[in-house]
Amino acid sequence: MTATARTGETTARTGETTAVQAGHFIDSASGALTPPWQPSVTFARDTDYTLLNPAYSYGRSDNPTTATAEGVLAALEGAEAALLFASGLAAANALFETLAPGARVVAPRIMYWGTLTRLAHLAEAKRIEFALFDASRANALEETVGAAKTALVWIETPCNPTWEVIDIAAAAGVAHAAGARLVVDSTVATPVLTQPLALGADMVFHSATKYLNGHSDVLAGALLTKDTDESWQCIRDARWQGGAVLGAFEAWLLLRGMRTLYLRVRHASESALAIAHHFAGHEKLQAVLYPGLPAHAGHAVAARQMTGGFGGMLSLLVDGGAAAALAAVARAEVFLRATSLGGVESLVEHRATIEGPESNVPENLLRLSIGIEDRQELIDDLEHMLAGAI
Ligand SMILES: Cc1ncc(COP(=O)(O)O)c(C=O)c1O
Repeated sequence: MTATARTGETTARTGETTAVQAGHFIDSASGALTPPWQPSVTFARDTDYTLLNPAYSYGRSDNPTTATAEGVLAALEGAEAALLFASGLAAANALFETLAPGARVVAPRIMYWGTLTRLAHLAEAKRIEFALFDASRANALEETVGAAKTALVWIETPCNPTWEVIDIAAAAGVAHAAGARLVVDSTVATPVLTQPLALGADMVFHSATKYLNGHSDVLAGALLTKDTDESWQCIRDARWQGGAVLGAFEAWLLLRGMRTLYLRVRHASESALAIAHHFAGHEKLQAVLYPGLPAHAGHAVAARQMTGGFGGMLSLLVDGGAAAALAAVARAEVFLRATSLGGVESLVEHRATIEGPESNVPENLLRLSIGIEDRQELIDDLEHMLAGAI
């Protein structure tokens, strides 16, 4: 089950090569290049009752397939360690659970709705204190963090679903000056396009359900850390005590998905840029929201912080409100009408419907997750959709 270093192999490899070769995996017993799936939930002990392999005792704490996937992901993010969870929100929750009672969390006003809802709920239950800042306003983070003692700054960049960009290095400066930790939800950027730890973040979060797995067939979440300090150990404990561990088969699928991560993300990112340029200024649209467009407010920061592309997510503000946006969606033939993002297939969603009556997302916003289909067919399908947007 353990991977062996190849004879004569001395050079540290790039994330791309590491992902493709599943962490340069070679099974020492068989020579197999594909990491095996280890379904066992329990691990044997010797006659003196010591574990045959001290790393594995019971599946709720660790599993060899999951550990291989965690090793690959840690290498891609330049992290000291990674932990995989049963979903993105399970990972976020494990972190929130380890905060001291009443700890203050600061987060952007616009970010993934599910994380925002969870933080708001924890604040309502008086588990934490919670303050939001407007990421589009300079100094807003500094002012919000400065208003009271803060334990954790949680940011997401680009932010769902309007794709504001937050300067990670600047946010790390603000958080650290106040004695707070910075965690970056890098689900949309992926390690292919942004390296939050190298920019000063303390932890990275992923909904691995999205680009990391990439095939819309696994729910998974990940936390990655710069330091395996005491707080990291608490998160590790929260995972096994709470039981929000990733199943071994899902970890195996994730390993397979990550092999093509770089190809998928680069292709989706190039298609998203082409689509954004094609539809910018379109007569049926009020705006195309995409950090790769020079007119986007976050373009300069994105150009500096994101390497090799601006990601596969963009949103369209359709002229004519909710009715026009929904009329356009009804005509989709290549884009699939479904929530989620980061899979190989392109998705269109009317975000306000998904988030419900409490949502503050504009009613005319269509969120597009660009997949890896033929680029021209995607453009033609969007033209066809917008032709019916009345
Ligand atoms: C940016 C972002 N963060 C977190 C999550 C939550 O992840 P999961 O659905 O895997 O729990 C999502 C899910 O859509 C997301 O888009």
